[in-house]
Amino acid sequence: MKNTAIHDRHAHEALSRVRSLGQIFTATIVLIFLLVLAGGTNGQDEGQKLFESRCYSCHNIGGGDKQGPDLKGVTDRQSQEWLAEFIRGPQAMSRKDPVAAELFKKYAPTIMPDQALSDQELQAVIALIKDLSARNENFVPAGAKLAREIVPGDVDAGRLLFLGGTELANGGAACNSCHSVKGVGSLGGGTLGPDLTAVNIKYRDPELILALQNPNFPTMKSLFENRKLTDEEIVQLFAFFQNSKLNNPTADVVPTAAAAKIEPKFLMLGFAVAIVAVAGLNFMWRKRNRGVRQELVRRTKI
Ligand code: HEC
Ligand code: HEC
Repeated sequence: MKNTAIHDRHAHEALSRVRSLGQIFTATIVLIFLLVLAGGTNGQDEGQKLFESRCYSCHNIGGGDKQGPDLKGVTDRQSQEWLAEFIRGPQAMSRKDPVAAELFKKYAPTIMPDQALSDQELQAVIALIKDLSARNENFVPAGAKLAREIVPGDVDAGRLLFLGGTELANGGAACNSCHSVKGVGSLGGGTLGPDLTAVNIKYRDPELILALQNPNFPTMKSLFENRKLTDEEIVQLFAFFQNSKLNNPTADVVPTAAAAKIEPKFLMLGFAVAIVAVAGLNFMWRKRNRGVRQELVRRTKI
């Protein structure tokens, strides 16, 4: 009787030790994860803000040439040093570097003004260009916003625009002739373009707004470049897509190259966490086994 009581207490103590170990272990992992996340977004934020305020008026990353060349992939063509020197003093560079001189000829009469960036700022901008190029993603200004707030009635107005019940003001073809959205329109939509049921899941809000303002996809671009959607139409279509996400929260996202967004960094982190977790569990099990073994030994002695 007494033995079992002692045994119970031992087992109980061992168990709670294992439990609190487990808690500390979980807390540590969560902390590491948050730190990595925070670190990752800070640098990116700086690059994003800088690029938007200082470069975006003349450059896209992945969206085509503007006043200046598209910077996608420039980090593969040029060294870090070349980029730093060019960005800080493009004109000085054009006098001594034949590649820079060619660029100046090609983009005349626009001249890129010298950019007085600190080392850290320069790193952040270059890292952003490199990162987006590697992931085959376009730069999206965080400032892409709707012209006004969504109000009741926008979803219905958006549905009508989508189906062609209301004509697009600048003469664009109804979305429904090439796209479908689950549960909308009795015959279903066209199939030339992807199903848009989950388009609001696939793209972040500013990305979708930007895609509506300035669709940079090959077919869409040729169609809508000279028949832009109006600000009003964009609000209504956006509201409609947002609503279709609410109605179909698990709709399949139509994959495209641009949608493959798993960052290698997080993948690696995932592996690391899994390995640590397995190691940790092993460790805990070993302790537990030893505890049981000691108990058995003790009991046989008694
Ligand atoms: C007023 C417009 C303008 C602004 C602002 C501007 N650029 Fe440029 N950029 C150009 C033009 C135009 C060229 C081509 C060379 C020339 O004619 O000056 C160029 C060329 C470049 C190149 C070389 C591209 C290549 O293909 O080799 C890089 C890199 C670059 N810019 C980075 C930046 C960065 C980074 C910023 C912001 C910090 C920036 N630019 C701001 C207009 C601009
Ligand atoms: C003539 C056919 C056609 C019409 C009309 C059309 N689209 Fe598209 N759309 C396409 C095609 C094709 C694609 C796939 C990318 C490409 O090739 O442009 C696409 C891609 C898209 C995408 C990106 C989807 C994704 O999964 O990445 C969005 C968003 C979009 N269209 C919205 C609209 C909206 C909103 C309208 C109506 C205002 C519209 N489209 C009208 C053909 C069309």
